[in-house]
Order: sequence, then structure tokens, then C-alpha cells
Amino acid sequence: MTDTKTKLAAKLKSRQARMAVLGQGYVGLPLAVVFAQAGFEVTGIDPDASKVEAILRGESYIGDVASDELAPLVKSGKIKASTDFSLLKEADAVSICVPTPLRKTGDPDLSYILEATEDLAQHLHTGMVIVLESTTYPGTTRELVLTKLEEVSGLKAGEDFFLAFSPERVDHGREDWTTINMPKVIGGITPACGEMAALWYGQALESVVPVSSTEVAEMAKLLENTFRMVNIGLVNEMALMCDRLGVDVWEVIEAAATKPFGFMKFTPGPGLGGHCIPIDPLYLSWKLKSLNYTARFIELASEVNTNMPRHVVDKVQDILNEAGKSLNGSRILVLGAAYKPDVDDVRESPALDVIGLLREKKADVSYHDPFIAKIDQDDWALESITDLNAGIGDADCVVIITDHSQYDYEAILDKAKLIVDSRNALGEAGRDNPKVVRL
Ligand SMILES: NC(=O)c1ccc[n+]([C@@H]2O[C@H](COP(=O)([O-])OP(=O)(O)OC[C@H]3O[C@@H](n4cnc5c(N)ncnc54)[C@H](O)[C@@H]3O)[C@@H](O)[C@H]2O)c1
Repeated sequence: MTDTKTKLAAKLKSRQARMAVLGQGYVGLPLAVVFAQAGFEVTGIDPDASKVEAILRGESYIGDVASDELAPLVKSGKIKASTDFSLLKEADAVSICVPTPLRKTGDPDLSYILEATEDLAQHLHTGMVIVLESTTYPGTTRELVLTKLEEVSGLKAGEDFFLAFSPERVDHGREDWTTINMPKVIGGITPACGEMAALWYGQALESVVPVSSTEVAEMAKLLENTFRMVNIGLVNEMALMCDRLGVDVWEVIEAAATKPFGFMKFTPGPGLGGHCIPIDPLYLSWKLKSLNYTARFIELASEVNTNMPRHVVDKVQDILNEAGKSLNGSRILVLGAAYKPDVDDVRESPALDVIGLLREKKADVSYHDPFIAKIDQDDWALESITDLNAGIGDADCVVIITDHSQYDYEAILDKAKLIVDSRNALGEAGRDNPKVVRL
């Protein structure tokens, strides 16, 4: 072991290494908490002053982190937070957990990774270990992060500092698999980089899965998310085909799922949502385009999934039509705005598209979501209705978009005039019911 590696390894093993986490969002804050609980001193750095102030007050704004968990760590000094990037110069170990959204054009927006890397490059020093966690296309860590860090600092990865990629896989809202026990794939720029990153993460996380390179780690995450996106696309297309055939897709899926092997159950819905599944595979297809290759499964699944909100709106139009009403002017109540049940996350939620399309067709739209008080979009803003019973009774049609577990579906079925159920939330009770249309 070189002297640099030996010293860093000792600091990591004794948990004396000072840690910084760039980005204190859904990924960065839980990571900071887990490492602080393992004994590290962690500084969360984020340009968003309101997040930093909340952390300093010991108040969590992330559903997966309880304030009761965060507050004692802040009080004991294990977790600090700041908007000051110069604190990076004191850090031995830095995780980068910044956003990787898409631009309006559908291309990857790497500006957050670039900015974070530039800030880090100013303060990079010998004996630092860095892990990029943000989901991105294969090659990002080597082509963008490594190049910038070495160019600005004059230091060499694998000798002076250590750089790796480790994809975040946490499923927001889930309690059985969380940051601490989710197996963590880690690939380094060099074997020494991978080794140091795995040593660091292994101090706080239960299971570390070393792979041979940053590219393998980057691609593994994209395989996972593409797998989900493509299978959801497939089952959504099944729903469209069953609709034409007059066959109940939900019964078909349950029947297929009785096969003890070789089949994995996915369910159709109003479209993809969340920060990962609708976006990450498009990072891969974008990269492949630059290599003259079309990622056909991704493109096709994306097309099918993107059209699902329109299909739901067609169903609303059809059921109103049957009742002699037009969508124009009808009162439509959208139930659930979050992208999945029981979370407060509305990012990329199909509810946004469904509401937008209904509004375009001049419906009088309201929504209810126990977790999302208001929605602000470029061209519209709505607040969740507060009196759910009255809202259901008033609506010409209720559209179930998110099957939150706290809804009383029996009561909804009883009260509503018409229902479009895009999640089979009503189950058997919605089947063959003249006032219900299922996906
Ligand atoms: N949310 C999830 O469940 C999840 C799961 C797996 C992977 N990921 C990936 O993890 C990454 C982070 O996602 P997230 O959900 O935590 O995003 P987020 O938007 O919740 O948090 C990102 C934070 O980074 C901050 N930030 C922006 N620029 C910064 C900079 N230059 N330096 C420091 N901080 C900066 C933002 O203010 C924000 O607080 C993304 O690449 C995402 O695809 C997210």
C-alpha cells in the first residue's frame, strides 16, 4: 500500500475521516445520516439555504429520514450543514448526490454534476476519496469528473486521490430495503480507487458489491432501471391490447403470475413517475445515439409509457360520453398526485400529465392527495381539496391515479358518480361495475 492509501485507510477504519456530502436531497440526506450514525462526522453541503437551515434545526424534509433521527446527530455535532463549498478542503471523503434531470429537449442535464465537480476540484487534496452517486450515462465518472479533477488539481487518481461511482438504488418510501442494507455496487477508476471507496462505504453500509470499473457500476444502475421501464412499457401495452380485445388485463396478469418461475409481475398504470425510471434509461439511449446506436427497447417503452396519461384521459372522455356528458366543463376529481402510493413525491408523476391534458380539454379539474398540499407547474397551479367526501360527491367523474393505502375505496365507490380506475385500486368491486372503467 502506498503511504497515501495507508493513511486514508486508517482514517476510514477509525472513522476519523471527515466526510462531506454534496447535495442534501432524497439521496444525500439519508446517506449523511447513515454515516453519522456509524460514527463519521458528516457535513452536508447544498446551495439550497432552506435545506441547510432545516438540517441545522434538526428538521428533516425527507420522508425516509425522521426528524427524531436527525436532530440528535445535529445536536452532537455528527451532522453539520452548510452552503459553503470551501468546507470541502477539510473533507477526506466526499459523496456527490446532485440531481441528474433531463433538459426540456429530453437530453441529459449534467450541469449539476459539472458544477459540483468544479467546486470539488478547487479543494481536492492528496488522500481524498470521492464517490459519485448521481445516476448518469456510462462514462460520466471517467470522462467528466476524472478529467476535470485531474486537470484542475494536477493530482492523479488511484495514486493521490481515489474516485469511484456507486449508484444509489434506494426506493423512496420503502422500509425493508433502505440506505443502510441496500447492497451497494461500487466501481473505481482504478483498482485502488475501487478498494478505497469500498473500504469507506463498508464502514457504514451492510453490503458492498465491488465491480471492476466505474462504467460497470454506472451501467448496472441503468440496466436495473431500464428493466423496470421496459417491463412497465410491456404491461402497459398489454393493457392497451386487452382493451381492444375486451379482455380484463388485471385478471390476465394475476393468472400469468401463478407461474412459479420465469415470470415477474408488473402492473399497468397511468404512466411512469418518479425521479428515476422515466429519466435514467434516456441517459443511456442519449449516450448510445452518439455511438450511432438506437436503444430500441428504451425508445419503444418510453413511447408507450408516455402515451398512458392520454389513454386515461380518453377513458374519462368515454365514460362521460356514455353518461351523455362532455369532458368540456365536467368536474373531474383526480385522486392521488404522487407518483406512487404513500409518498409525498410528485416528481414526473403521471398525475401532472393527466391534469394538464384534462385542463387542455377544458374540464374543471381538482385533485386530492393526502401527501401533496399543492402543485405548481409552469402553466397551472392547484391546491389539494380538503373535503374529500364533498369533492367526490361533487365530481362528475373521479379518476384514481395513485392508490394511496389510506383511501377508503369502498366509500369512494359508493359516493362517486363515475370512476376511472387506472390502478385497479377498487379491485373486484370495480369489475363489471357500470359506473367504473378500469384501465
Ligand atoms: N430519489 C431517489 O429515490 C433516487 C434513487 C436512486 C438514484 N437517485 C439519483 O440520485 C441523484 C440525486 O437525486 P435526489 O433524489 O437526491 O435529488 P434531490 O433533488 O432530492 O437532491 C439533490 C440536491 O442537490 C442539491 N444541489 C444542486 N446542485 C448542487 C451542487 N452543485 N452541489 C451540491 N448540491 C447541489 C440540490 O439543491 C438538492 O438539494 C440523482 O442523480 C438521482 O437520479 C435518486
